[in-house]
Amino acid sequence: SVKLYMNGIRQHQYLKEIGITVWLERKLAGKETTGFNVKSVSKENRLLETELDKNLDYLSSQVQTCNFCELHKFRTKAVFGIGNKNADWLVIGEAPGVEEDLKGEPFVGRAGKLLNAMLLSMGLQRKEVFIANILKCRPPKNRDPKLDEVEACGNYLRQQIELIKPKVILALGRIAAQNLLKSTTPIGKMRGNSYLYPGSDLPVVVTYHPAYLLRSPTEKRKVWEDLKFAQNIFRGLI
Ligand code: URA
Repeated sequence: SVKLYMNGIRQHQYLKEIGITVWLERKLAGKETTGFNVKSVSKENRLLETELDKNLDYLSSQVQTCNFCELHKFRTKAVFGIGNKNADWLVIGEAPGVEEDLKGEPFVGRAGKLLNAMLLSMGLQRKEVFIANILKCRPPKNRDPKLDEVEACGNYLRQQIELIKPKVILALGRIAAQNLLKSTTPIGKMRGNSYLYPGSDLPVVVTYHPAYLLRSPTEKRKVWEDLKFAQNIFRGLI
C-alpha cells in the first residue's frame, strides 16, 4: 500500500542518516518498518499508570540527591533517564557527558542525535523508548566508570528495569554491555548473540555506542545488523 511504501522511503532516509544504503525489492519495501507483525504483548502485569508514575518519580528524586559515590560532587544535574514509562524498548548507555550533565537528559549531544537516527531506522521515535545510562552522574573528563561507581548506581537501574518492564534492552557500547551482563567479553564478540538480563527472561541485545560510530563510521553497517537482530528478537522471530 502507499502507506507501507512511504514508510519504506522514510526508513531509507533515516538509514542514510546513519550512513547505510539498503536495497530492498520494492514489494518488500516497508515490511521491515515499524509496527507490522509485531507480536502484541500484554502489559497486564505492569503497574497502574499512576502508581508507575509515582514510583519512577520517587526513584528519580532519589537520584537527584544521591551521594552514594563521589561523582555527585562534580555533577551539575544527575541524569535519571527519559522516555516512555511503559516503553517496550529500554536503551542503556554508559554515563552522561558534558551536555547531558548540563541538561539533566541522556543522549542530547552528537551521540544522541545519532542514537535518534538509529532508533528511527527501526521506526522508533525517541519518545517511544526509555533511555537511561549505567551511571546517572558524569565522570570527570568522561573517564570510564569505576567499579564502585557502577555498584553504587546499580540499584537505580535495576529498579528502573523492574518498574518499566521493557520487552527488550538495547545495550550501547562496552561499558553498558559488560556491566549489564556481568561479562568481560569484548563487545565485538558479544554482538550478534542474544543474552538475558541476569535473573530474568528479558532479552538484551548489544551493539556499538553511537559515540564510537562517530569516530568509526564504517562500523555503522554492523550496528544496522544489530538493530535488525534486536527487532527480530522483539518480534519473537528469534
Ligand atoms: N553517552 C552515553 O553513554 N550516555 C549519554 O547519556 C550520553 C553520551
